[in-house]
Amino acid sequence: MTEAVAFPQDRSCPYHPPTGYRPLAARDPLAKVTLFDGREVWAVTGHAEARRLLIDPRMSSDRTNPAFPRTNPAVRQVRTPITAALAGVDDPVHKVQRRMLIPSFTLNRINGLRPRIQETVDQLLDAMVANGSPTELVGAFAQPLPSMTLCHLLGVPYEDHDFFEEQTIRLTNGPRPLEAKAALMGYLDALIDKKRQEPGEGLFDDLVHQQFLPGNLEREVLLELVWVLLVAGHDTSANMISLGTFTLLQHPERLAELRADLSLVPAAVEELLRYLTIADGLPRVATADIEVGGTTIRKDDGVVFLASLINRDGDLHERPDELDWHRSHRDHFSFGFGIHQCLGQNLARALLEIAFRSLLERLPGLRLAVPAQEVPFKLGQVFQGMVELPVAW
Ligand code: HEM
Repeated sequence: MTEAVAFPQDRSCPYHPPTGYRPLAARDPLAKVTLFDGREVWAVTGHAEARRLLIDPRMSSDRTNPAFPRTNPAVRQVRTPITAALAGVDDPVHKVQRRMLIPSFTLNRINGLRPRIQETVDQLLDAMVANGSPTELVGAFAQPLPSMTLCHLLGVPYEDHDFFEEQTIRLTNGPRPLEAKAALMGYLDALIDKKRQEPGEGLFDDLVHQQFLPGNLEREVLLELVWVLLVAGHDTSANMISLGTFTLLQHPERLAELRADLSLVPAAVEELLRYLTIADGLPRVATADIEVGGTTIRKDDGVVFLASLINRDGDLHERPDELDWHRSHRDHFSFGFGIHQCLGQNLARALLEIAFRSLLERLPGLRLAVPAQEVPFKLGQVFQGMVELPVAW
């Protein structure tokens, strides 16, 4: 019997999977890993098995199931009480909640947001340029961009955007994330009453007037849905921008190729999503015995999907450890798969494309302001990313 590998483990390079996962990549597409609390769960590392399992209704996302695996002590602390809307519920409840949100995330709707995203990007880059080189890119650009965009998408009044931004950033990066959560929930709760009297334009307004007031949605669930959008949409995008920029600066040839042909940016975004896999180890619990390729996952077994290894599966991607803007297909698991596949992926792509293209266009001399090994990246957190990114131009 082979020894179980610990999950999660920290990366030693911010853009490569932890070296400690190597034994898993070499084993069967289903192996055992040990969580921080000592529990053993299944780790799925094969592309085909992941696709099969993630669409299986017996793979549950129900966070209220006592057998649901907890993959990170930090998640336990911040998500109290456990978030149980959308990402944490199964069909049929999931389907009803997702349907309420889908119209705000269609490709058309998000394409309509692009000029606004560009405006925000220009505003942030103008301020950076005015303040002069060097600067710290996480605080100056990577974090405020998604938070200002989410604020606009939801319909948070502009005069509150500083407060909203500060709390959203504290929520996932501290200090005192629990206080930030309480402040945000209190703010959103009061906003429901404001929006009731003075409807504005935004997803929050739509939910209040089309779902909450007609009685289709309870107040608590409405708050949870907005909360899930913030948790799922903010830090993920901010980390992709910071880690993506760092990775580009560490790959000068790929960067030069991109600068020479900006039409490659959408392909580069897709490849960076695959390569960086900032959200690893999607958790599920089995609600019945499931047979996969000769192995049986038993009812109540925990399962984690190791997207960082699935995305480097050599059977699917040639030279998987290399960055390549010209891959013939762009299959990756960075947005998950199945019914919970990222609802905000059109928005994430728009944010990343506009952010990277504008950074390259506006700051042709962009470079790290300190040696690469001195740039701190995130350890022990749910998403991969940079703590700080000192850059010059
Ligand atoms: C590059 C940035 C992003 C990455 C890498 C990412 C990744 C993911 C992944 C892997 C999942 C699947 C979770 C699971 O199956 O358990 C997910 C779900 C989700 N994402 Fe994203 N995401 C990103 C940006 C966004 C944005 C901008 C939003 C918009 C607010 C968003 C909203 C959501 C929501 C609401 C879910 C839950 C969907 C459901 O359960 O039906 N995400 N995301």
